[in-house]
Amino acid sequence: MTQAGFLRCAGILGTGSFVPPKIVTNDDLAARMDTSDEWIASRTGIHARRLAEPGVLTSDLAAAAAQNALVDAGMSASDLDLIIVASSTPDFPGSFPSTSAIVQHKLGATQAAAFDLGAVCSGFAYALHVAAQMVATGANNRVLVIGAETMSRLINWDDRSTAVLFGDGAGAVIVGEVAEGGYLAGVLGADGSGGPLLCVTRSGECPNTIFQNGKEVYKFAVKVMGEIAVQAVESAGLLLSDVDLLIPHQANLRIIDKAAERMGLPREKVVVNLDRYGNTSSASIPIALDEAVKTGRVQNGSVLVLVGFGAGLTWGANVVRWHC
Ligand code: ACO
Repeated sequence: MTQAGFLRCAGILGTGSFVPPKIVTNDDLAARMDTSDEWIASRTGIHARRLAEPGVLTSDLAAAAAQNALVDAGMSASDLDLIIVASSTPDFPGSFPSTSAIVQHKLGATQAAAFDLGAVCSGFAYALHVAAQMVATGANNRVLVIGAETMSRLINWDDRSTAVLFGDGAGAVIVGEVAEGGYLAGVLGADGSGGPLLCVTRSGECPNTIFQNGKEVYKFAVKVMGEIAVQAVESAGLLLSDVDLLIPHQANLRIIDKAAERMGLPREKVVVNLDRYGNTSSASIPIALDEAVKTGRVQNGSVLVLVGFGAGLTWGANVVRWHC
């Protein structure tokens, strides 16, 4: 789906992120399973990840990231009228009750409606697209969008092919009306026939953990990331040369490099932090965005392309002209 004319401009008014303090390096993993820093780093670009302590829930990470975004936007929780949490690791099975409602309570955002959105690693791209429509149409004024995950709860620690890839964390943005620019275009898609390639197991020796056909997912990701990023830029009426920063889902450095290559972007225009956090699924794009903003890589007028892919299979890209 592509985005056409808006009634009002919807932009990002503030960003925030939070990662748990516990750092687990590749060497730490090599001490408990048959792997090595050399294998993980050369295949993926990952050097470390953060893991939540037992008892720390997705909503805790989400609320902490949201607080940081509220501070950044100079707002209080009572200013929010909608909260969307993109997550595949909700506090309760089946999002029952939703993590977004739990976050609403933790923040004290009593005026806000709340719902969870499930599109796995594409979740943030989907949620930002939805939030932009809500603000553009006037249905909502201040939408908190969060990508938050405790992926460590879905890991089979006996499966080295997936255990080394994921980490925990959360990122958040606040979407509201801006005078000009803001959200320019979005491209979302899905191919449910690819569901079995990347899913949570229901039975077997280790139920409720991640199964992945790594090679097939890799091929899909390399193809889709570059393609939809280009489509989204075209939908926004821009040229690839207008793009200032690519903020991709942080799954694998080789996949990110291929997407950047397809777009003709040099490495300095690509945000990469998977070396420190691994794949935090729906949280990876908003964490990377927050770091890019806080380190001054995003300027007034910058054109950002956010692009994600994941289980489903799903994919999504957003184009935003930054408005400080
Ligand atoms: N350490 C050491 N060796 C390993 C490890 C490990 N952690 N994992 C696998 N191996 C071994 C395998 O057993 C295999 O050995 P063999 O040849 O003796 O059988 C060998 O390494 C090669 O394994 P491959 O799976 O072929 O490795 P590949 O080069 O394909 O890399 C990887 C695997 C990194 C997972 C890659 O396929 C990939 O990145 N795929 C995409 C993953 C991805 O992006 N997922 C997105 C998730 S998004 C979401 O929605 C959650």
